Amino acid sequence: MLPDINKELQALRETDRFRSTKQIESAQETRIRIDDRDLILFCSNNYLGLANHPTLKGAAVEAIHRYGTSSVASALISGYMAPHAELETCMAKFLTTEASVVFPTGYTANLGVMTALLGPDDIIFSDQLNHRSIIDGCRLSRAKVEIYSHGDTDHLHSKLQNAKNYRRRLIVTDGVFSMDGDIAPLPELVSLAQEFQTILMVDDAHGTGVLGANGRGTFEHFGLSSDAIDIHMTSGSKALGASGGFISGRSDLIDLIRNRSASYIYTTAMPPDACASTTASLDLISNTPAIRQNLWHNIETIREGLQKLGFDVGNTQTQIIPIIIGDDKKTIAISTELYERGIYLYGIRPPTVPEGQSRLRLSVMATHTKEDIQYLLNTMAEVQKTFT
Ligand SMILES: Cc1ncc(COP(=O)(O)O)c(C=O)c1O
Repeated sequence: MLPDINKELQALRETDRFRSTKQIESAQETRIRIDDRDLILFCSNNYLGLANHPTLKGAAVEAIHRYGTSSVASALISGYMAPHAELETCMAKFLTTEASVVFPTGYTANLGVMTALLGPDDIIFSDQLNHRSIIDGCRLSRAKVEIYSHGDTDHLHSKLQNAKNYRRRLIVTDGVFSMDGDIAPLPELVSLAQEFQTILMVDDAHGTGVLGANGRGTFEHFGLSSDAIDIHMTSGSKALGASGGFISGRSDLIDLIRNRSASYIYTTAMPPDACASTTASLDLISNTPAIRQNLWHNIETIREGLQKLGFDVGNTQTQIIPIIIGDDKKTIAISTELYERGIYLYGIRPPTVPEGQSRLRLSVMATHTKEDIQYLLNTMAEVQKTFT
């Protein structure tokens, strides 16, 4: 029998920590329809505006006609179809790695690679603000975990010095931090990984498609070669506007994953249409740099506009712009006020962010117009007066 869980829910409600879903009745463009109203969307990961792009939709529809609606088996049984193979080849080519493997989601990719490679004789050094899927990958691997202060390579250095007697050592970091929009200090992490003969893994879910001259992500942003990073992880469901989780790197790493990752083996492979739309997205991103240039123009306009208004946007360097409010209640009140004024900008509270750092996590899209941005900044100026 289910125990009485209402007290727990009540406690969440009383502390403004209760979460629920909102039904979206349209595609995720810069305008979305909720409750029979059109709102300007400022909190989607559809950074390049590709999630409703005709080319991606066309590729998905064609794949459905040819391969049906589901993979209906694990990749190792009969779920690995031509669209999976094509996507893996395209992703490896895009990231300039030897090979790539597709998981159904980024979350399962993080769990899969960490559990395949690490066990109780190993140690992981994980940035304090890494994504929850990395934290869960650390836990599930059963390796010892050392958390280093956010982006603090001196702190990491001191931890590495005291951890020589392990079978394997892994440094893991988000490339672009998902709630703060700052970029990991990759060149320094590469040096430390080399000095201490440590594996380096980068979760670039929010960097892929956005950073670097060709959109390859954080390593390209810093002018590093792809093999400076041992394990590239990314997601198809952010800037790519599609689906899936990917681990890319050396072919032997990919072989090990196919043999050892429970979250690859004991789950149904990604649907073929999702593979096809993701491949189409990689192609589009590679051949249309103007989309990324629009995004960067919008990022700079919004960040500068918010800073001029006096909002605390932390150390953002990217399309993820946290408007840090602090208090949970005030964050929700501002988010509600924006909603009333036609802007959808979700409030993020602990445990997703540290206590006292509740925020509006604004994400910029390449397809936001000048008018959208002006309306946002004007509305933020008005809302600021109401709440100070
Ligand atoms: C940094 C980071 N890693 C991994 C994931 C998980 O990716 P996915 O949404 O494809 O499961 C996310 C997104 O939620 C993320 O922000």
